[in-house]
Amino acid sequence: MKRSLIVITCFLSALTFHLSAQNKPIKSTKSATGSSASISNGKVVYTQHCLSCHMADGGGVPNMNPPLVKTSYVLGDKKRIIKVVLNGFAQNVDIDGESYSNNMPPQNFLKDQEIADVLTYVRSSFGNKATAVKLAEVKAVRSNNKK
Ligand code: HEC
Repeated sequence: MKRSLIVITCFLSALTFHLSAQNKPIKSTKSATGSSASISNGKVVYTQHCLSCHMADGGGVPNMNPPLVKTSYVLGDKKRIIKVVLNGFAQNVDIDGESYSNNMPPQNFLKDQEIADVLTYVRSSFGNKATAVKLAEVKAVRSNNKK
């Protein structure tokens, strides 16, 4: 009886040790999808210019503002998403099967670098895993951008 108690205690402490070792947070300064500087600058831009509508977790507001979580826009063609930011979005189209009553005003006052950073942040946050948006890509879209 006493012996089995000792065995159980040993087993439990080994288990606790194992679990606590597993729960250690993994520190990462670099993301596979974009440089950490671009992502952290993008978060600042997001907080100032996008969060009020698309929310801190990118979840949007049902029926009003669409989510930025794995939508075909966010994960799709970079030119299209850059144009959404430059020109705003007020076409009454369905976004992945849902429609939203609000309109997105143009964010063309943002600098090219800010747009690259905010989209890099969005594409690598909220469960999204898509490649970074580069400064040159925003420049190219802006110079060809016809309203
Ligand atoms: C005033 C509210 C508002 C602000 C601010 C705003 N958006 Fe939007 N956004 C919307 C709405 C509303 C739509 C959808 C419009 C429609 O359906 O006609 C949208 C659509 C989008 C889409 C395409 C659809 C999707 O869900 O994938 C993206 C991407 C996007 N916004 C990103 C951004 C980013 C990045 C910023 C900040 C630079 C931003 N938005 C700022 C309201 C806003």
